[in-house]
Amino acid sequence: MNQGKFITFEGGDGSGKTTQLSRTIDWLKSQGKHVLQTFEPGDSALGKEIRRLLLSGEHTPVPAAELLLFLADRAQHVETVIKPALAAGKWVVCDRYTDSTLAYQLAGRALKDNGQLRDMLAWAECGVSPDKTIWLDLSVEDAAARMASREAGGEAANRLDNEKVSFHKAVYAAFDNIQRENPTRVQRINAGQSIEDVQADIQTVLGQL
Ligand code: TYD
Repeated sequence: MNQGKFITFEGGDGSGKTTQLSRTIDWLKSQGKHVLQTFEPGDSALGKEIRRLLLSGEHTPVPAAELLLFLADRAQHVETVIKPALAAGKWVVCDRYTDSTLAYQLAGRALKDNGQLRDMLAWAECGVSPDKTIWLDLSVEDAAARMASREAGGEAANRLDNEKVSFHKAVYAAFDNIQRENPTRVQRINAGQSIEDVQADIQTVLGQL
């Protein structure tokens, strides 16, 4: 059977991910692909509840609980949404995946890992790893400037957006490491360019699949 492709988008808050995702979906469709656009956390019926628990700010989970909630969301998402779409031959484009957990929970929360946590991250993927990951690379300083102007425009920040600069620096450094450790899977895209140039770079990368 024609297996689809699994593409993930990663990047710090303010990197332009939402705009680039929607342009990429339009482009893939124009190429005749069947596409499923999805996101984490929260794009399953159970995940919707988990997302609210994680991001509303009503609760402050301890780091271990936060990690486990993201992984619970992922397992549910993979089994009920991603796998069926891939089996139907679709291209699945997912806004954030395991690399976000590595960056935000393991690095951002500075969870000590003797290898067990990475194994758990792999286990929660239920056998589905990205064929390609687009990392929209934007410095913490540039991202903060973009976020400030968005919030001035009325867009609400979630519980993780509101973390301090040192947290976002740890997240950035983690994405940088992930890219160096997985240079074939993870493609770094300079997110400081114009919207058109970023999109052109993404199309070049995905065109090679
Ligand atoms: P969201 O509002 O979906 O948007 P964006 O991706 O544009 O930031 O926010 C999801 C938040 O959850 C974001 O702050 C990153 C965080 N996150 C984690 O901390 N760990 C994870 O494993 C995932 C998937 C997301």
